[in-house]
Amino acid sequence: MQIVHFFWGLVWYILYICQVNADYNIALTHDGPVVLGGTITFKAEVSYNNKRPSGTFKYKWRDNALNPHEYETKGTSNTTTYWSLNISHENYTIGKYEVEVILYEYKFFWWELTSVRTDFHVTQFLNGDIKVIQLNKTSIIDTYVSSAFEANVTITIRKGDMDYLMKATSVLIYWFINCKYFGQTSDLSFLYNFTIPDTSHVLEALVVASYDLPTTTVAPTTTALPIITTSNATVPNIMISNVTREQMVITTISSNNLSIKPMSTSTITPAPLNDATNISISNVNNISLPYICSNSSIIPPDPNKTYGHFIKKIDVRAPIMNITVEGTNWIQPWDMLSLNVSCKGSGPFNKCLYFHRGKYNITGNETCDSGDNLYSCNFSIIHYFLEPSVYTILIILNNDVSKQIYPLTINIYKVTTKPQLSVIVVPVSCSLAAVVLIIFGIAYYIQNKARFTVEVADFDFGQNNPEMEYKTFTERLKDSVNNAIRPGSKRISGYKPLNNSQTVQ
Ligand SMILES: *[C@@H]1O[C@H](CO)[C@@H](O)[C@H](O)[C@H]1NC(C)=O
Ligand SMILES: *[C@@H]1O[C@H](CO)[C@@H](O)[C@H](O)[C@H]1NC(C)=O
Ligand SMILES: *[C@@H]1O[C@H](CO)[C@@H](O)[C@H](O)[C@H]1NC(C)=O
Ligand SMILES: *[C@@H]1O[C@H](CO)[C@@H](O)[C@H](O)[C@H]1NC(C)=O
Ligand SMILES: *[C@@H]1O[C@H](CO)[C@@H](O)[C@H](O)[C@H]1NC(C)=O
Ligand SMILES: *[C@@H]1O[C@H](CO)[C@@H](O)[C@H](O)[C@H]1NC(C)=O
Ligand SMILES: *[C@@H]1O[C@H](CO)[C@@H](O)[C@H](O)[C@H]1NC(C)=O
Ligand SMILES: *[C@@H]1O[C@H](CO)[C@@H](O)[C@H](O)[C@H]1NC(C)=O
Ligand SMILES: *[C@@H]1O[C@H](CO)[C@@H](O)[C@H](O)[C@H]1NC(C)=O
Ligand SMILES: *[C@@H]1O[C@H](CO)[C@@H](O)[C@H](O)[C@H]1NC(C)=O
Ligand SMILES: *[C@@H]1O[C@H](CO)[C@@H](O)[C@H](O)[C@H]1NC(C)=O
Ligand SMILES: *[C@@H]1O[C@H](CO)[C@@H](O)[C@H](O)[C@H]1NC(C)=O
Repeated sequence: MQIVHFFWGLVWYILYICQVNADYNIALTHDGPVVLGGTITFKAEVSYNNKRPSGTFKYKWRDNALNPHEYETKGTSNTTTYWSLNISHENYTIGKYEVEVILYEYKFFWWELTSVRTDFHVTQFLNGDIKVIQLNKTSIIDTYVSSAFEANVTITIRKGDMDYLMKATSVLIYWFINCKYFGQTSDLSFLYNFTIPDTSHVLEALVVASYDLPTTTVAPTTTALPIITTSNATVPNIMISNVTREQMVITTISSNNLSIKPMSTSTITPAPLNDATNISISNVNNISLPYICSNSSIIPPDPNKTYGHFIKKIDVRAPIMNITVEGTNWIQPWDMLSLNVSCKGSGPFNKCLYFHRGKYNITGNETCDSGDNLYSCNFSIIHYFLEPSVYTILIILNNDVSKQIYPLTINIYKVTTKPQLSVIVVPVSCSLAAVVLIIFGIAYYIQNKARFTVEVADFDFGQNNPEMEYKTFTERLKDSVNNAIRPGSKRISGYKPLNNSQTVQ
C-alpha cells in the first residue's frame, strides 16, 4: 500500500515538474533602500502564465544577514504576500543583502514550485528627499520655485525610515542654503521666501536623530517630532527672510556646536554662529561622514545617532504676471486684428492661442502642451475675422512655475449704414426736381410740337402746291418727252387700260 502511494506520488511529482514549474513566476519587489534601524517591506506576487493561479500556497522568506531571518507563511490561497523586516543594529550592518522567497504549493505534499531572489541595501543615512511645496505652483518639476509665494522646504523620508525616526528621542535638522548655515529646527520643514528670480540655490539639510534614552520616560511613539518654534527672541541673525541678507551670514559649523544634547529642553537655541571654527578632519573618526557642501564641513558622527543628509538644487523663477494687451478689439470684418501682448515673469514661455467663437468661460482645465516657445513674453496676434460676431481669443501662457489663462474678447461689428436725413432729403428733392423738370419738359414739348406741326403744315402746303404744280408741269413735260422718245411706254400705258377693261369684264 505504501509503495502504491509512493508510486502515485512520484507520478504526480513528475507530471508536476514537467507541466508547471517553468511557468510560475514571482515578482519580488521592496520599498528599500532602508536605513540601519528602519523597516523594509518585501512583496511577492505569483503569476502563472501571466494570470493569478489558484491553489494553496506557502511562502518561505529568508535573507542572508549574519543571523539570517526566516519567515514562513501558513497555507493560503493569496498570490500576493508581504514580509516586513526590521533592520536592527544587532543583526545588520550597512551594505547589500539578498532576500529570497520560495513558493510551495500543496498537492498531497508541499511541492516547491519556484523561488526568486533580490537585493536590498541597508544605508547609513536616512533615505528621502527635499521637496519644496508652494501654493499655486503649476510645475511638476519641483526644482523650480516661484519667487512670488512662500516656499515650504520639507524633507520627505521613506515610510520605513520615518518609522525609525519617530522612535528617536530627539531630532534636529540643520539647514543650509548655498552652503551657509541657515538655522536649525526639529521639524522636518521650514518656510522661506525665495524672492530673487532667476537665481539658483542649493538647499541642504542634515538630520540628526538621537536614540539615547533620557532619564525620564521615553516619549510615546505616537507623538510627532517635537516642533520647535524658532520665532523666539533668542534667535539672533539667523532667521532671515532675504536671500541677500542670508549671503552675509557666513558661518561654518564647529564640531562642538553640533554635539547634540538630549532633547529634554523643548526650545532649541540655535547654534552660536559667531565663533565659527572650522572643523578639522582630525577629530573625526574613521567612519564615513555626511558631507555638507562638498567637504567644506564634516559632522562628527556618533554611532548611536542616525543621520540624514539631503541636498537639492533649486531654480527660482518669477511667475507670469501682468499680462498686457495693446490694440483695439473692436474691428470690422476683414479688418486686420493686430494686438501686442506682453507679460512679466521668467522665461522661457510656452504660448498657445485658441480662437473661440462667442464668449468663453475659463474652466481652468485649458492646457497648452505643444505651444510656441518664447524667450521673452512679447508677441503679436494678427488675425482676420470674416463674420461679425463676438470672439474669444484664449491666451494660455506657461513658464516653469506658473500658468496663465487670459481670455481676450474680440468684437467684430458690421457697419449698419444708417440713412442720414441729408442722404434722404437730397435724393428725394433731386428726384422731385427731376420729375418736375420732366413734366415741364413734356408739357413744353407737347406745346412746341403742336406749334411745330401747324407751321410745318403751312409750310408744306405753301411749298407743295407750287411744287406740285411745278412738278406736274415738269412731269407732264417729261412724260410727253418720254412718250415721244420711247413708244414702248405708250404701249404699256395703252395696255394698262386693256387690263383694266378685262378686269371690268
Ligand atoms: C489575502 O486575501 C485576503 C482575502 O482574499 C485579504 O483580505 C488579505 O489581505 C490577503 N492577504 C495578503 C497578505 O495579501
Ligand atoms: C519590527 O518593528 C515593529 C515596530 O517597530 C514591531 O512591531 C515588530 O514586532 C518588529 N518585528 C520584528 C520581527 O522584530
Ligand atoms: C536578530 O536576529 C535574531 C536571530 O534571527 C533574532 O532573534 C533577533 O530578534 C534579531 N534582533 C532584532 C532586534 O530583530
Ligand atoms: C492661488 O490660486 C487660487 C486659484 O487657483 C487663487 O484664488 C489664489 O488667489 C492664488 N493665491 C495667490 C497667493 O495668488
Ligand atoms: C510643510 O509641508 C508639510 C507637508 O505638507 C507640512 O507637514 C508642514 O507642516 C509644512 N510646514 C509648514 C511650516 O507649513
Ligand atoms: C514670505 O512672504 C510673505 C508675504 O510676502 C510673508 O507673509 C511671510 O511671512 C514670508 N515668510 C517668511 C518665512 O519670511
Ligand atoms: C519664547 O517665547 C515665549 C512665548 O512667546 C516666551 O514666553 C518666552 O519667554 C520666550 N523665550 C525667550 C528666551 O525669549
Ligand atoms: C531685505 O533686503 C532689503 C534690501 O535688499 C532690505 O531693505 C530689507 O530690509 C530686507 N528685509 C528683511 C526682512 O530683511
Ligand atoms: C552608544 O550607546 C551605548 C549604549 O546604548 C553606550 O554604551 C555607548 O557609550 C554609546 N556610544 C556613544 C558614542 O555615545
Ligand atoms: C503688476 O501690476 C501691478 C498692479 O496691477 C503693479 O503693482 C506691479 O508693479 C506690476 N508688476 C510688474 C512686474 O510690473
Ligand atoms: C459663462 O458663465 C456665465 C455665468 O457665470 C453664464 O451665464 C454663461 O452662460 C456662461 N457662458 C458659457 C459659454 O458657458
Ligand atoms: C476640468 O477637470 C475636472 C477634473 O479634472 C473635471 O471634473 C471637469 O469636468 C473638467 N472641466 C472641463 C470643462 O473639462
